[in-house]
Amino acid sequence: MYLNGYKGLEIYAYKTAEEIKEYLHWLYKRDKDGILVAKDKGKIVGFIATDKNWMWTGEKFGEIHELVVHPDYRGRGLGKLLLERAIKRLKSENLRKIGLWVGEKNEKARKIYEKLGFTETEKRGKWIRMVKIL
Ligand SMILES: CC(C)(COP(=O)(O)OP(=O)(O)OC[C@H]1O[C@@H](n2cnc3c(N)ncnc32)[C@H](O)[C@@H]1OP(=O)(O)O)[C@@H](O)C(=O)NCCC(=O)NCCS
Repeated sequence: MYLNGYKGLEIYAYKTAEEIKEYLHWLYKRDKDGILVAKDKGKIVGFIATDKNWMWTGEKFGEIHELVVHPDYRGRGLGKLLLERAIKRLKSENLRKIGLWVGEKNEKARKIYEKLGFTETEKRGKWIRMVKIL
């Protein structure tokens, strides 16, 4: 599901099964209650991974580490719904800022984040940091 989700955007994704397994495990360890999954007939078709314990440049952040929707399920509002739920959850944890990194060429994702109130704050290589103030 993860690999399918990053078709065409491979430069921003983990590649080997081992790397992906390790990454998913890391997400779970960071904040297991921050993982929200969308399912269709028992099959995972999208997920978002948030982290209520993230620190960035000495500041506390609710971080969104991952958001991915299976290509067959895109354009139906699932990505937006997952994001809205994640924002609500981080807000309820009394966080003041939400941050994430998005690939500079990932225009679709950048647009969605913008629509939901994120603004660009910095750029590091191929990555752009976006922040939403709650
Ligand atoms: C980014 C991603 C999660 C969006 O998921 P999605 O379920 O298709 O998104 P939604 O259907 O909720 O769409 C949200 C908004 O984007 C717009 N949108 C969706 N697909 C679009 C497309 N192909 N082109 C332009 N806009 C599009 C929708 O119109 C919607 O805006 P609206 O609410 O004003 O109508 C999905 O494309 C994905 O998994 N991409 C690969 C992984 C990735 O890049 N993740 C982000 C990492 S930072």
